[in-house]
Amino acid sequence: MLFQSLILSFAAALSFASASKYQSYPLSELDPTKFSSYSKGQDVSLQCIRRQIDTGEHIFDDQGNILYSPFYKCLETNAPLSLKYMEDSNVQCTIKFEDEVFHMFQLYLHKDAPFTCRFELRPNSGIYLPIDLSFRGNVLESHFDIDPNLNMVMIANNENEIISGTGFSSSTNTTKVIIGQNVELNFNVKWSNLHKELINDDNVGVYWIPPRNPWLVWIYAGAGVVVGIVLTFLFSYRRINRKIQLESWNKVE
Ligand SMILES: *[C@@H]1O[C@H](CO)[C@@H](O)[C@H](O)[C@H]1NC(C)=O
Repeated sequence: MLFQSLILSFAAALSFASASKYQSYPLSELDPTKFSSYSKGQDVSLQCIRRQIDTGEHIFDDQGNILYSPFYKCLETNAPLSLKYMEDSNVQCTIKFEDEVFHMFQLYLHKDAPFTCRFELRPNSGIYLPIDLSFRGNVLESHFDIDPNLNMVMIANNENEIISGTGFSSSTNTTKVIIGQNVELNFNVKWSNLHKELINDDNVGVYWIPPRNPWLVWIYAGAGVVVGIVLTFLFSYRRINRKIQLESWNKVE
């Protein structure tokens, strides 16, 4: 048994050494370029991991695949929350915190389980990427307090694919929630279109969020150059001036 596993790990190490250190992400047998990309305003639906209400464990199908279901229904639209590709928005989504939802949010707030959903890299591609919604708050005996205002950051690339996203509570106050109550969640959705920066020769790239205000960086850099020139000029002027004065005194003598 031990010998067998040794051989196996040796073989794995060998195949690992021969293969590239990098794996493409998302890992998929499908070729994303076979699917048309997103267009502005197109619906981006979120599906979320189904979990057992008591433990937060995943719910699996017969083949052991994690099961997903659409995002909770918003009472405003009677439809699950969905985003619009490359359209910033402020979405109100009121959810009825019935028994199951209430218990799931106890787990999310207590950080026993992440509130993880997924979206598609390209529409109808079946190539999914994860997105975590991080709600914060306090879980108490008979109720919980939740910060219901989330910033949502979504990142797309120049090929109109969605690369990544996340959401996180960002307010100064929480809202008290008891079982059965309706709770208005607010999603402030902001999209960024970023370009890929290559970090090595194997076409491995990363989408970095740019500096807060790239113009400011240029203005600072420009101001630095101007100050440098002025200081250099002032110092050399004083030196030249002194030289001229010295020379004229010399002449006078
Ligand atoms: C929000 O929290 C602050 C600080 O604890 C408190 O002073 C303020 O009254 C709260 N506001 C509401 C609407 O609860």
